Amino acid sequence: MSDSHLHPVKPEWTKNALIDNETYLDWYKQSIDDPEAFWGQHGKRIDWFKPYSKVKNTDFSNGVSIKWFEDGVTNVAYNCIDRHLEKRGDQVALIWEADDPSKDKKITYRQLHDAVSRLGNVLREAGVKKGDRVTIYMPMIPEATYVMLACARIGAIHSVVFGGFSPDSLAGRIADCGSGVVITADEGLRGGKPIPLKANADRAIEIAKGQGFNVQTLLVVKHTGGQVRWVDGRDVWYHEATEKVSAECEPEQMNAEDPLFILYTSGSTGKPKGVLHTTGGYLVYASMTHQYVFDYHEGDIYWCTADVGWVTGHSYIVYGPLANGATTLIFEGVPNYPSPSRFWEVIDKHKVNIFYTAPTALRALMGAGNEHVAKTDRSSLRILGSVGEPINPEAWEWYFKVVGEERCPIVDTWWQTETGGILITPLPGATDLKAGSATRPFFGVKPELVDGDGKVLEGPTDGNLCIADSWPGQMRTVYGDHERFVQTYFSTYAGKYFTGDGCRRDEDGYYWITGRVDDVLNVSGHRMGTAEIESALVAHPKVSEAAVVGYPHDLKGQGIYCYVTLMAGEEWSDTLHKELVAHVRSEIGPIAAPDKIQFAPGLPKTRSGKIMRRILRKIAEDDYSALGDTSTLADPAVVDDLIANRQNRK
Ligand code: WT7
Repeated sequence: MSDSHLHPVKPEWTKNALIDNETYLDWYKQSIDDPEAFWGQHGKRIDWFKPYSKVKNTDFSNGVSIKWFEDGVTNVAYNCIDRHLEKRGDQVALIWEADDPSKDKKITYRQLHDAVSRLGNVLREAGVKKGDRVTIYMPMIPEATYVMLACARIGAIHSVVFGGFSPDSLAGRIADCGSGVVITADEGLRGGKPIPLKANADRAIEIAKGQGFNVQTLLVVKHTGGQVRWVDGRDVWYHEATEKVSAECEPEQMNAEDPLFILYTSGSTGKPKGVLHTTGGYLVYASMTHQYVFDYHEGDIYWCTADVGWVTGHSYIVYGPLANGATTLIFEGVPNYPSPSRFWEVIDKHKVNIFYTAPTALRALMGAGNEHVAKTDRSSLRILGSVGEPINPEAWEWYFKVVGEERCPIVDTWWQTETGGILITPLPGATDLKAGSATRPFFGVKPELVDGDGKVLEGPTDGNLCIADSWPGQMRTVYGDHERFVQTYFSTYAGKYFTGDGCRRDEDGYYWITGRVDDVLNVSGHRMGTAEIESALVAHPKVSEAAVVGYPHDLKGQGIYCYVTLMAGEEWSDTLHKELVAHVRSEIGPIAAPDKIQFAPGLPKTRSGKIMRRILRKIAEDDYSALGDTSTLADPAVVDDLIANRQNRK
């Protein structure tokens, strides 16, 4: 089956490519045989104030310690801006495409330097020092990248929280990392609709205060001009503050292992964890993958449609492209506003060469009809990318044929918030493509498939995807909880990084990610823990118990299916159903809104009280004929009720 979607590298893809297949094989071998030498050489792709003498010092056992380039000194903002000024001060660094198609803006590297330096001074004057945390809750406007880079410039650790998260979620993240400064905008704008960011931030700061954490400064960008509440002494307008300061801001001397950012992400248990990335290795890896995976050439216009609230935005809108001196496009809007042609119109308007998006968007646009694509030109496109979830072969073929008209290779890039950069991916001039496969490991990446007992499997097989050794972009710890880092990623299979993904390796050594094997959902490319949604549900006064599972969803990849048991005396009703959906939205954010909620008089539990999720998944998928062994259930009869009232009938 894998070969029915085989697309061999075309000669024209290889002609000007940075890496051909021979080079890939040669470099890959070097990178695995002698990582010290390989990364010692490639670490030089960024500028160092003080060069490193040590390259790799990593241990996946004994408490787990990961250090790269550990005695080197550098600064990420310096690498993304200052070092380009001489050669490309007047080159466009950022193209901003607004939600409103009539608005855009171009920012040169020199202008970026000015904006970031001023903001660095504003933050320093607000008392922010190296190592302090700053929370960023912003729409997709140029200022979002300025604030990230300004933090990097002065050595502050940023934590960007996606604008779709609720005040509660934002509060938890502010308090967890102890961020005394928060940066937001009056409102965001998506598909013509305003998002009340400042109001959400106000509420979050109150909630955090209730939890004993005090935010001193809220810096606010005036974006839409919408009405906002103002707290004197705490709130500061961005445009006023940046006017008053100097445009010279000395970049902080950062050790390679000094933290760069925290990004909260969901796991199978507990609260979201603060994934911590550091400076040197992260930037080397982000910039190197950006260059080779997208075959980035000088002068290319590059567009990644992600939001800076996710790691994709960090590594492949901001840090990777800017470290390479690229022109990176940031888009405020959504794929279907004002029409499903928007992506392709933006590509034509700005002559985009490299385009990187998510399968969920592609599936939605595919459903809208080919005419929305066909009426645009798209001849500037050279490379197409996909990220965030498995791309089904149908969507892949549509992307290839209809969007790229068979001229552009597709790079299906597999990675995670934790990995900092792309780990498994084709290289456009090197890798024969198979629709639906992320294909082969990037340089320095050693994938292993293991069975449930941790036995490493060879050859074509299915297994749990682990990475056997460290790469420079890897997360270093969970912020404030190293033990959780070790437990989550290095304890399932001792001595290996466990990704949480299932995977198949075919006869050509190609990797096919099959999805999470833990209790993590991927809904429209957004990562969510079932445990988080369950705790939001049981926080509702009428709910006594909840179990959440994913089910296959045509557009979203996975949908959220909730089983809820009510407190004694409560009745199930349409009103309560709506109330629970609204409740989860407000606890976590709109991205976590349940697709289906089923009232369950009881949940299938073993005699020891463990919920049998396998059964719940099957019923949610409407595939209840093969429930497997239910004899160990405490009360097998609950299953019949759940089947009779299932919400997904084909
Ligand atoms: C999970 C990580 C990587 C940035 C965006 C998501 C899934 C990601 C692919 C892909 C199949 C993919 C995995 C992974 N995933 N990319 N190309 N093919 N699955 O980052 O939120 O940390 O989620 O997304 O399941 O574990 P994230």
